[in-house]
Formats: sequence, structure tokens, C-alpha cells
Amino acid sequence: MKAVILSGGSGQRLAPLTNTITKQLLPVANKPTLFHILDLIKEETQIKSICIVVSEEYGHKVKESIINSEYKKHFEFDFVFQDKPLGLAHAVQITNMHMGNDPFLMFLGDILIDKGELKKAYEQFIKNKPESLVVLKEIEDPRPYGIAEVSNGKVLKLVEKPQEPKSNLCLSGIYFFQPSIFYAIANIKPSYRGELEITDAVDFQIQEKKSVEYYIIKSWWFDIGTPENMIKSNEALLNKLAKNNINSKFNQSVKIQGVVCIDQNVTIEDSEIIGPAIIAKNSYLKGCKIGPFVSLGENVYLKNIKLENSIIRENTKITNVMGIISNSVFGKNVELSLSDNLKDLTKTNKTKYIVGDDTKCTSL
Ligand code: G1P
Repeated sequence: MKAVILSGGSGQRLAPLTNTITKQLLPVANKPTLFHILDLIKEETQIKSICIVVSEEYGHKVKESIINSEYKKHFEFDFVFQDKPLGLAHAVQITNMHMGNDPFLMFLGDILIDKGELKKAYEQFIKNKPESLVVLKEIEDPRPYGIAEVSNGKVLKLVEKPQEPKSNLCLSGIYFFQPSIFYAIANIKPSYRGELEITDAVDFQIQEKKSVEYYIIKSWWFDIGTPENMIKSNEALLNKLAKNNINSKFNQSVKIQGVVCIDQNVTIEDSEIIGPAIIAKNSYLKGCKIGPFVSLGENVYLKNIKLENSIIRENTKITNVMGIISNSVFGKNVELSLSDNLKDLTKTNKTKYIVGDDTKCTSL
């Protein structure tokens, strides 16, 4: 069995974070979403061969990050460039040569799920060998997603982004297919949004009375397509930290509560860290209150700030910002620095920042 991971798409809802990088490479809990997905496939399936569909714009960056990673030792990778965003079914169609006659897992590269769920869906597919298996998640408002109508263990119908959904079960972005999916894709027409929808291809199979099964995710699931969801996934992943892992030394001016992972060569002075939180190597913190649910990338510099529920990417510097920085995402190489005489750690108003890479904002 093989896998296809779709790693294209424009990521407009994540702008300005995606002005310089594709969303699948944006880190959540200090690791790109794409790498979290590779971890799941490695740990929970027997799959060794992965085809990654990438966009013309960022494909080379995705390829480079995979080639330079540890995953190269475990998996065999193929890369397919999708020159236009013509839909998920189109993205699958162009992997046809790479998939050959093997059944395969299709995973959207902007989806994160809790551990253990992929394994169960994979085992169900291997055991029952349906034509397709769709992985579903019950959510409150499924209108932005594809939905599945099910009854008595059977999928009756799939609809892409219905105005009036007849079910709360959304298509999670994880699917298992036999090679017959290529026949179904060849039989569908572009949707109202001009895309070949994988939802329509599986619905075609249902209309043709082929066996289509489903698996419902019980634990958490996020589509990281918005900053809010990136932050929620960061929180879910940090909640999984089991024990402290502290690789730098601090003096008594530093208070640590809860579970934290702190890498090597981190300097912290006069600060409080509330877990769960992760701090990557070479970072410097002084006069800060950090956490809970904070991920700091490498070489981050924070002075006199309060920060909670946020992701700060590598090489970013934030100093003397008043109030609490909350539910925020800062890209890399950002500088947000106010002068020392503006510092005021007593303020508790919360401010949300979404800041793209290389943004500089400094006071005199
Ligand atoms: C796609 C699928 C949709 C699915 C969703 C999951 O939507 O078309 O059926 O529910 O992914 O994230 P899109 O991201 O293209 O809007």
C-alpha cells in the first residue's frame, strides 16, 4: 500500500503567514504539519512509499525540506507538481503513474489528528478491502467541508460544502482508495468551484453501488487552514507532552510550572514558564511570563512580555509589548520592539497578532 499527501493549495486564509511559505510547512508545536503527518504514517501504518503532490510555487521548498529530513531514511518519496489548483481529484489523478495498481491512503497535508485514529481506519480498510473508505469527524458546522450522509453503517451520499447539510459528519481529509478511484475520477465533471472534487468521485462510486465504508474520528481533528485552527492544534499537540524535558540550566529567578520541553543553549532569566510549552534551542527570554500553550522556535528573543496560546517562529524578537500577547502567530525573522521605557508588565489586556515573516516594527 502507498500514500499520497496533497501539499499544494494557496493557504489564503493563513495570509500573511503563507506569503512566504506553504501552509503544510508551517510549524505547529515546532514541527511542520507535513512532518506530523509523516510521523503518523510511519508509526501507524506499514506504508513505505509516499507521493507528495506540490504546487509550482512552493514545491521545491517542500521537496528540499523532505530530502533534508530523517523521513528520507524510512520512506521512498516521489514528488508530483500540480501546475494549477484544479481540485483534489485532479491532484490524485496526476499521481496515477506513481500509484500503479496499489491501494493507497490519501491525506490532505493541512490536517492534523490525534494519535491512534489513523491506525484504526487503516486496519479497517486492510481487513474489509472496500473500494473506498472515508474518514469522518462529527463537527458543529460542517458547511465549509464535504459531508457524508450515513445510515446503518453505510455511506449513502457525499456532498461538497452543502448550504443545508443533512449530517454533521464532515470529510476529514483522510481517505483510503483502491486503484478503481481513478475510474471514478475519470467519470466526474468539475464542480461549481471549477474543481474536480474527490467528494464527487467517491459519491460516483456510491451511486454505482460500490462498497464505500467510513471511519469516525473520536479524538481531536483540525484543519490547520486558519490561524485559529493552527493555535488549537498547537494546544492539542502540547497537551500530549508527557513529561519535562529540560536541556538547559537556569538560576532561581526562573519559575517553571507544568510540562515543558526546553532545548539546549536556552537562556532564561527573571521569568515564569507555564507548561505545556516548548522552547527550541538558542532562545533567550528575560522578564517574561510565557504559557500555557506556547511554542517558541529556534533563536527566539523575548524580553519583558507576557505570552499565551501562541506560536512564535525562529529568529523572531519581541520586546516590551504591553498587555498579554494571546492566540497569536508570529512568522520568522520578525521584530516587534518597543523601547524599554514603554515596558509595563501590569497590563492584562489581551492582544492577538498574526505577523508574516520578516516584518519589522520598532519604536525609537
Ligand atoms: C477539502 C475537501 C472537503 C474536506 C476538506 C477537509 O476542502 O474538498 O470535502 O471536508 O478538504 O479539510 P477544501 O480544503 O478544498 O475546501
